[in-house]
Amino acid sequence: MIEAFANLAVLGGTGKEGKGLAFRWAKAGYKVTIGSRDIEKARAAASELNQLLGRDLVDGSDNLSAAQKADMVVLTVPHSAHKATLETVKNALQGKILVDVTVPLVPPKVTKVQMPPAGSAAQEAREILGEGVEVVDAFQSISYEHLMFGDEVPCDVLVTGSSKEARLRVVTLVEAAGLTGWDAGPIENSVVVEGLTSLLIYINKQYGSTHAGIKITGVHKA
Ligand SMILES: NC(=O)c1ccc[n+]([C@@H]2O[C@H](COP(=O)([O-])OP(=O)(O)OC[C@H]3O[C@@H](n4cnc5c(N)ncnc54)[C@H](OP(=O)(O)O)[C@@H]3O)[C@@H](O)[C@H]2O)c1
Repeated sequence: MIEAFANLAVLGGTGKEGKGLAFRWAKAGYKVTIGSRDIEKARAAASELNQLLGRDLVDGSDNLSAAQKADMVVLTVPHSAHKATLETVKNALQGKILVDVTVPLVPPKVTKVQMPPAGSAAQEAREILGEGVEVVDAFQSISYEHLMFGDEVPCDVLVTGSSKEARLRVVTLVEAAGLTGWDAGPIENSVVVEGLTSLLIYINKQYGSTHAGIKITGVHKA
């Protein structure tokens, strides 16, 4: 189902996770702009996806222009680039929803949960952007391999964030990407969602996998 916000920007969408998400949303009919610090890099990523899609559905732009023209903005950059990227697009995000996919990993100990002082990357984003931007966490436990190479993704997406309305809109976006999304509560719960990634990376290492995930059981969607 396509919502009113059919224009999406994926900032850092030249990378693995963002490209996977952009691919899925473009397939579902959304207009997607890949944002980058380097417009040529963004255009190259868009062209790669258009070749896979067989149609020109994705375009590429600098991060700020992508955020300005989008109805909803998705952020997929390493935590080390999180604050600087948000400061670049702060004004363009006012009145919109930011879907934050960032995991605050601290290399080299990425199998250990190490949250920032704000509590989570999502709460950091809210501090930087202010109350004019709803910040919603999603996709932290979905490996890019599932997004690019698997049709059916056997993992669920936990959605936490600053308002229920925003979370429900992001659950719709999750489902448009072909995954099951759950409203998992307020932004304070983002510590669990983001922390889960280190735990899954640890499990991957212990059991020789690359894409461990989670599934919610014991509850059915209406
Ligand atoms: N990979 C996964 O399977 C996965 C799964 C769940 C969540 N995540 C999370 O999603 C986020 C992105 O992951 P990824 O694997 O896609 O990362 P990535 O490929 O390493 O980087 C994504 C993009 O971020 C931008 N970037 C990198 N370093 C930067 C810097 N110093 N300053 C500004 N921008 C920078 C780059 O875009 P430009 O050079 O084009 O600006 C890059 O293409 C991370 O927070 C990660 O923890 C990843």
